[in-house]
Amino acid sequence: MERQEWILILDFGSQYTQLIARRIREAGVLSRIHAPDRVNDSVLDDSSLKGIVLSGGPASVFAVGAPSLPDWFPRWRGPVLGICYGMHLLARAEGGEVEGGDAREYGPARLEVDEVSPLFDGVSASTDVWMSHGDRVVRPPAGYRIAARTADVRCAALADPGRGRYALQFHPEVVHTPEGPAMIRNFLLRVCDCRGDRTPDRVAEREIERARERIGPEGEVLCAVSGGVDSTVMARLLHRAIGERLHAVFVDNGLLRLGEREEVLRNFRELLRIDVDLIDGASLFLRRLEGVADPEEKRRIIGRTFIDLFQEWAERWKGVRFLAQGTLYPDVIESTSTAGPSATIKTHHNVGGLPETLHLELIEPFRELFKDEVRAIGRAIGVPEEMVARHPFPGPGLAVRILGAVTPRDLELLRRCDDIFIRALRESGEYDRVWQALAVLLPVETVGVMGDGRTYERVVALRAVTSVDGMTADWARLPHDFLSRVSTRILNGVPGVNRVVYDVSSKPPATIEWE
Ligand code: XMP
Repeated sequence: MERQEWILILDFGSQYTQLIARRIREAGVLSRIHAPDRVNDSVLDDSSLKGIVLSGGPASVFAVGAPSLPDWFPRWRGPVLGICYGMHLLARAEGGEVEGGDAREYGPARLEVDEVSPLFDGVSASTDVWMSHGDRVVRPPAGYRIAARTADVRCAALADPGRGRYALQFHPEVVHTPEGPAMIRNFLLRVCDCRGDRTPDRVAEREIERARERIGPEGEVLCAVSGGVDSTVMARLLHRAIGERLHAVFVDNGLLRLGEREEVLRNFRELLRIDVDLIDGASLFLRRLEGVADPEEKRRIIGRTFIDLFQEWAERWKGVRFLAQGTLYPDVIESTSTAGPSATIKTHHNVGGLPETLHLELIEPFRELFKDEVRAIGRAIGVPEEMVARHPFPGPGLAVRILGAVTPRDLELLRRCDDIFIRALRESGEYDRVWQALAVLLPVETVGVMGDGRTYERVVALRAVTSVDGMTADWARLPHDFLSRVSTRILNGVPGVNRVVYDVSSKPPATIEWE
């Protein structure tokens, strides 16, 4: 298989590092993030590595213990783009001078580009950029020229075009630098000489081929599907790769939404033409959850029960050697800004916890992909839009949206409220404008009035958020008229609920789910 051209991003802890990775990928080039002390000098011999980006970071180069360039860096002869802290490191490493700033400069600035160089090709002579730094370069290293300035920063961009080395004091990766994507594209295509031809079609083809090679001509793969984007696209991709040797399994845990089980099975069988085995675990899950109010305990029980059911069914899958898992790139990044797989606020369970006694090897076709790339691949391999654009739904399902112990009656109430909300979002076109939407059943009863009498019934909270990746989120500004319609439909249509509230908290400090 042809080696893929790629860009190495050394992560010095910037909150924007993942954005740099996305911008590079949006320009059609694979990017990989690594903590500087986790890459060894073998990259120097990798002919498909086309350039290195040094990220920003919260530290000052003068601080004790501030992260530094890898030992092998002076031996790298290829292109480099240093951003903010990365600029300071690069400037110092090459003999320039950096000065500690008294105050942090944070916010917009106007960049005046004085020197035409490949990096600024096609970029306006005067353009808005985003600053966030304390230190600054006061004398460029030998060979570098000052390519751009702002009112406050004399060395806002340094360039040594002959060696393909550039350094920027501002952040080209954030939306507040509107011409940032053009600069990044220039770096990739004009400086690093990348082809920039990494399209979703090509990525899909490549992953299909890779899966075929790994699985071999007779290998069989087990793939647990939930109906969510990742497992759906994964099943489609593997089905393309190995056809009927893929065994898709769907577990009904009794915590699904109204009509969801039927919908998932129908979508797979009719739209994707993939056969799915159904494991009906509803009564087992609900029995084990009886009386359990603690959210983490609920998650543990649900994770455990998934495993038990898989174990029980393992007999059927004798001869199956592989288990497909939808691990995404943000889960595996070795970086200083994300804590990687161990950063747990809630124990998000997946099928990842499957026990070793199943003796299955893991296949993870999305290990190098962000979620939006998985969606793009899904579209490229013909997964219907309604499945690709589906909101995320947590593995523990409605169990984490009924605060307190789960009962069949509460599940029924919540299902109906959720269904009204989601249907209304779809009808109004708001569904695709929000990242995720949900209803939560609260464990409180409030006073209401119905006819001449007082009622004492439950409260439902509606939550809709906008987000890029679920890591941070803002509450969605749904129109008041829309909220009013949903509220009326719930209060008139779901006996047992007499109050509807809308959640106006962003993440952080709140999380998306309430448990
Ligand atoms: P939070 O609530 O942590 O959610 O802001 C972020 C995203 O993760 C989903 N989520 C889960 N997904 N198992 C999952 O598979 C879980 O236990 C779990 N908890 C939250 C949540 O729906 C949102 O998309």
